[in-house]
Amino acid sequence: MKTPILLSLATGALLALTGTSASAVDTSKLPLPVPRKVDFVKEVYPIFVEKCISCHGPQKQKGKYRMDTKEFAFKPGSDGPFFIAGNSEKSPLVHIVAGLIDEGLMPPPSDKPGESEPLTKEQIGLLRAWIDQGAVWPDGEITMTAKELTFTADIKPIFDKSCVSCHGPAKAEGGFKADTREGVLKGGEVYGAAVKLDNAARSALVIIVSGKDGDIPEPKKHKLTDKEAELVQKWIEQGAK
Ligand code: HEC
Ligand code: HEC
Repeated sequence: MKTPILLSLATGALLALTGTSASAVDTSKLPLPVPRKVDFVKEVYPIFVEKCISCHGPQKQKGKYRMDTKEFAFKPGSDGPFFIAGNSEKSPLVHIVAGLIDEGLMPPPSDKPGESEPLTKEQIGLLRAWIDQGAVWPDGEITMTAKELTFTADIKPIFDKSCVSCHGPAKAEGGFKADTREGVLKGGEVYGAAVKLDNAARSALVIIVSGKDGDIPEPKKHKLTDKEAELVQKWIEQGAK
């Protein structure tokens, strides 16, 4: 069927205006909410910190949206509120992070590895469950009390198991040694410092162990599990103690 140009332009404009309205999206493919009580400060806010607040927090408010406190996050946008307490299926924020809105996926896709990964199904499930459970968000600033990770207690066991055979006392491929904190911070001959304290996600070490470095030899030997890679990144975010 041919659509007159004027009409399709008008529909386009209308769609742009109502782009985030609940009726315009197909929610049938949304990951399901996790079937348990969710703790906002421990489980949901860290997702916002990891994926959103660098662009929507105290430093930057991209799209004029800020979400580091409840007061800001719940402020409605031009199409209404982003969170609908008790109804995650109709909450525009869920549609946005699940990529249900054309060109509206958050965080915005990037072709740089380690940057702007979309939320996982598990993360969307947590977010949905929290909204369905009433979207309770404590007033004021949120302080996360993360367990302090250390090389000796948390990272060395992983590297001993997966890396030290090639990067340790016996052999140090690329001049890189993974058996001591000093060795890891020093890095190797090709990549240099493998740890960026000011940008954990873009540290060569994190990119390598998340399996996102296309050039590293023996990529399978370098990819840790998602959980382990996450731990390595958290350790760097906390200052690589
Ligand atoms: C790298 C920067 C960046 C990150 C990270 C990011 N955003 Fe955005 N966000 C933007 C930009 C840019 C816009 C404005 C887009 C536009 O106007 O087209 C925006 C707009 C928005 C809006 C407003 C949409 C509207 O209709 O007014 C919401 C809500 C939003 N982002 C949520 C999030 C959430 C939730 C996350 C984390 C899961 C996130 N963003 C992560 C850059 C970012
Ligand atoms: C089977 C042996 C093997 C295993 C296991 C292994 N690597 Fe490697 N790694 C290599 C080789 C080979 C290179 C490339 C060295 C070169 O460029 O000369 C390399 C390079 C690197 C480099 C870059 C060093 C430089 O040149 O700057 C880093 C960082 C690294 N590996 C980290 C790790 C980590 C972390 C693990 C564990 C998750 C690991 N590797 C497991 C063999 C291995």
